[in-house]
Amino acid sequence: MDPRSEVLLRQADLFQGPLLIAGAPADGLLAELPQAHAWTWHAGDQALLQGRFAGRCHHGVEAPAVAFDSAVLFLPKSRELAAYLLNALASRLAGGTLYLVGEKRGGIEGAAKQLQAFGKPRKLDSARHCQLWQVTVDNAPEAKPLESLAERFELALADGPLQVVSLPGVFSHGRLDKGSALLLEHLDDLPVGQVLDFGCGAGVLGATVKRRYPQSQVTLLDVDAFAIAASRLTLAANGLEGEVISGDGIDAAPQGLDLILSNPPFHTGVHTHYQAAENLLKKSGQHLRKGGEMRLVANSFLRYQPLIQEALGNCETRAEAMGFRIYRATRG
Ligand SMILES: C[S@@+](CC[C@H](N)C(=O)[O-])C[C@H]1O[C@@H](n2cnc3c(N)ncnc32)[C@H](O)[C@@H]1O
Repeated sequence: MDPRSEVLLRQADLFQGPLLIAGAPADGLLAELPQAHAWTWHAGDQALLQGRFAGRCHHGVEAPAVAFDSAVLFLPKSRELAAYLLNALASRLAGGTLYLVGEKRGGIEGAAKQLQAFGKPRKLDSARHCQLWQVTVDNAPEAKPLESLAERFELALADGPLQVVSLPGVFSHGRLDKGSALLLEHLDDLPVGQVLDFGCGAGVLGATVKRRYPQSQVTLLDVDAFAIAASRLTLAANGLEGEVISGDGIDAAPQGLDLILSNPPFHTGVHTHYQAAENLLKKSGQHLRKGGEMRLVANSFLRYQPLIQEALGNCETRAEAMGFRIYRATRG
């Protein structure tokens, strides 16, 4: 059980009524709270929760249309995302109770100050390196539309400016990541056809490729519903078409691809893990057609080359700069 769930269960009697758990981890918490519904924006957690608690889990960027008189937010890593979620929950909770739970190293103490906008917060518990906060919502705010929190910026690319629309919590919110910037400089001589932008974030790579190679069909895939929403906005802002899909890992991607393009993930929340990236490298051959190419950017310190070599039998370093490497490999 996630330690934050354990902290909630120390006060389980508080959570027996109609409750919405936002950012719920994929653990057994719902089994202990029979009237609770979970809201998650992580496609992998949604699949796991749905397997155990069908009908009580909701996926997306908006709070689900279920009735609740209290809500718990599991503190996300991004401060902007926490602000959006707290506003969304508090706007539905006039006179109700809002809880915030999070790890100390995730910044729960500071984040709890955001509850002051709605009433007088108090710390209910501190255990397992986590804290649980509570506020009665005396001042329910107006719900802010998610799009009003979008950050828009323009990239000056060689073939003209590209508009990027990013949303709270999305990777490199409001600016271009250095690794992605390097990959954008190395998108020459790409195969045309079925293209996957794996871990698309705000859709920078997929949108750039679709504009440069308009005959290609581009699929953008991410585990995070906010990234999916941002990618759709980015494509629309540039008048581009693409399929945007929500899924956990390369297994959710189509097969028979001509090109996989990625700045693969290597951080999740406050914990670092490489699982999704390693699976992408190991299983790339199952998703590429014969002769198809994978082109990636990664921190130079990540030892991806042997994994790609093992999966596809070749791997060339095309460029190295600013602590990043561009890899190119083809399926023989
Ligand atoms: C390093 S960011 C790159 C984002 C974007 N392509 C760019 O260049 O700005 C990696 C992305 O992978 C996504 N991601 C993390 N785990 C994933 C998984 N298991 N399946 C699919 N996408 C994942 C993250 O949400 C994040 O948007």
